Amino acid sequence: MTALRVGIAGLGTVGAAVAKIIVENGAALASRCGRALQLTAVSARDRAKDRGVSLGAAEWFADPVKLAQSAPIDVFVELMGGEGDPAKAAVEAAIARGVPVITANKALLAHHGVALAKAAEAKGLALNYEAAVAGGIPIVKALREGLGANRVERVYGILNGTCNYILTTMESSGRSFADVLAEAQRLGYAEADPTFDIGGMDTAHKLCLLAAVAFGNAPALDEIHVEGIERVSPMDIMFAREFGFRIKLLGLASRVNGGIEQRVHPAMVPLGTPLADVDGVFNAVVADCNLAGKSVYEGRGAGAGPTASAVMSDVLDVARGVRLPTFGAPAVHIGRPKVASMGAHVGACYLRFTVIDRPGVIAVLSRCLADQSISIESMLQRSRSPGEAVPVVMITHEASELSMVKALSAVVATGVVTEQPCMIRMERF
Ligand SMILES: NC(=O)c1ccc[n+]([C@@H]2O[C@H](COP(=O)([O-])OP(=O)(O)OC[C@H]3O[C@@H](n4cnc5c(N)ncnc54)[C@H](OP(=O)(O)O)[C@@H]3O)[C@@H](O)[C@H]2O)c1
Repeated sequence: MTALRVGIAGLGTVGAAVAKIIVENGAALASRCGRALQLTAVSARDRAKDRGVSLGAAEWFADPVKLAQSAPIDVFVELMGGEGDPAKAAVEAAIARGVPVITANKALLAHHGVALAKAAEAKGLALNYEAAVAGGIPIVKALREGLGANRVERVYGILNGTCNYILTTMESSGRSFADVLAEAQRLGYAEADPTFDIGGMDTAHKLCLLAAVAFGNAPALDEIHVEGIERVSPMDIMFAREFGFRIKLLGLASRVNGGIEQRVHPAMVPLGTPLADVDGVFNAVVADCNLAGKSVYEGRGAGAGPTASAVMSDVLDVARGVRLPTFGAPAVHIGRPKVASMGAHVGACYLRFTVIDRPGVIAVLSRCLADQSISIESMLQRSRSPGEAVPVVMITHEASELSMVKALSAVVATGVVTEQPCMIRMERF
């Protein structure tokens, strides 16, 4: 069989690693997929930059869209990133020309996934994106193929290594969020502009793709409730531990009340459950299914090797002639999910109030909660400092999100708290 000619647009962390695998390890991989792999064309911004791999035989394109339109390739690998052009235009150009596409670009697929999938499937082409969700963990394949006969009830996980690193380090060192973020930036675990990661949007991009494959819907990024980790304090992490939990930034998508609930926020994860022990830059995903039950996937969610591993699995599929619909179900049949509103979400919460230590304050807090039919499972007031601001921590029984929000507004309105109450949702797995 003739060699599979690969064109790569983007030779950064991931693209250079993929190029290196094809150039240096192509022969070994050929024995697995039955075809030699040949790096035929590449594109990046700076031609002079050393990519750590010899690109000798590959044709250089200054314009990635031109590469997609005209290079002699059998598969186009988009590794530039960004939801718009040139990534979008290049992917569209490859599909229009009848060339299958592989991308690691969660932003592109979260925004334009269905349109691109429809275009690719109309031409009988693959549009694969294993690397776009949880890096080296083959979770798209697991959901789309291995668990394909299941009804997925819930899929959730730790999908952002930067946030997990920050929370883990805050816990082990007792240091503040700002301090640990600065360290993560120095070590290269966080971007110079970390907003996208710490604000939860990166997790939301990945969650909407996971949910699409799990539930057979179009990705619905704008329906996700998103909160980041900026307000998590070392004190909350310490209290969580005392109550038998760890705080993790989770992405969760579940079937509830006939709809799909999707949320990204810091959550209390019970010690002894799989996600509680996922530390540092690692990612993990759990799928709850009707036939297979619960399955857990853990691994490296980013970095050159893990992400290139995922990209290459997609390349091997194309070489083998394996093609599945992008989101599992044919794109022409998938629509937006019926959304379960966040206000209707029901769960227990950790609440921390900062109050002036004086008689009657606890009664005021309890009344505001009771007025919304929220009952308290346990309460903790660590220190007594009459006249000073002290933390009061409560764990509630299950209540609706709407009641919780109303109760907290009522607490603020009474004037007993000196700062905005902290609320962290508790997950029971
Ligand atoms: N890094 C990870 O661990 C990871 C994990 C999972 C998914 N991903 C995804 O993988 C993709 C690539 O990420 P990365 O970390 O490899 O990014 P990166 O290191 O910033 O590399 C981006 C590459 O795209 C090239 N590029 C950017 N704009 C271009 C343009 N207009 N024309 C031609 N080339 C252009 C850059 O060229 P120059 O090098 O010349 O500047 C660079 O080679 C993104 O979608 C990202 O979300 C990354």
